Amino acid sequence: MLRRLHPIQPEGFAFTPANLAWAEGQITKYPEGRQASAIIPLLFRAQEQEGWLSRPAIEHVADMLGMARIRALEVATFYFMFQLQPVGSVAHIQICGTTSCMICGAEELIAVCKEKISAQPHTVSADGKFSWEEVECLGSCTNAPMMQVGKDYYEDLTPEVLRNLIDRFAAGEAPLPGPQNGRYASEPKGGPTSLTDYVEGRNQYNGSVHLAVEIGDVLKRIDGTEVPLRTPWQRQPEVADVPHEQPRPGAGHPVDETGVTTQEAPVKPAADVNPGGAAPGGTAKAEPGQPVADTDKDDTTTQRGKGGE
Ligand code: FES
Repeated sequence: MLRRLHPIQPEGFAFTPANLAWAEGQITKYPEGRQASAIIPLLFRAQEQEGWLSRPAIEHVADMLGMARIRALEVATFYFMFQLQPVGSVAHIQICGTTSCMICGAEELIAVCKEKISAQPHTVSADGKFSWEEVECLGSCTNAPMMQVGKDYYEDLTPEVLRNLIDRFAAGEAPLPGPQNGRYASEPKGGPTSLTDYVEGRNQYNGSVHLAVEIGDVLKRIDGTEVPLRTPWQRQPEVADVPHEQPRPGAGHPVDETGVTTQEAPVKPAADVNPGGAAPGGTAKAEPGQPVADTDKDDTTTQRGKGGE
């Protein structure tokens, strides 16, 4: 499917203060020269903030990461998880249409979306609250058919259940995600037949549902208030004159000419590794990043500095 930017674009984009702090924290996880590695989480946070990814948002993220805008556009248009057009203000419904879900009734769920939301996918409903699309397998095949709404999976669906869920979303409710037919997780409908020891004492809901309920973010787009910022090396000292000596991954470790960072591959001088001179296999010693002669093959290769500690 050809993925293009939406013809109507907003004037600009800026992260909210909470999202900006989070984004800057993600960038510090990578060494100097590798900030572009943060492209997907930053694009995704921009999408969570606005609901979809506009051209100004993509370009803003590219500028933050010091990368060419075309490279950020390539990423955004490649991955289907990025919505390149406006979505419903309440929910964008993703119906899995792959084999297990299709066999178990995905086409009927899609018919409900066409009836209640819009005849075409990626089209916002008349009231602006919903949009929908068909997606490939979401990895919940034992609970087919299912849909994803934001971070949450609603599983074991029927057309009636989906209709009811959409009505409850529209009414401002946040229905419990997970299996909608009474199952705890993906055990047989009549109850587990193995690992039965684990039934007693388990949480009220399965892991995903339990976490969603505990954080309280069902049907809510991530805005940075759900969990603390997990970049402890950015913590400020409580007493102003105590030196800040927290480890800072990525800080002060530029990528060298071989594309390897000091963190990634500390290299011992060849003399320490092989004081005798010739390397195993007949390769003469050389400094990292320099071509070395391979006496067996009579050509040269580049030592990538992987033979260190
Ligand atoms: S086929 Fe639908 S989740 Fe795998």
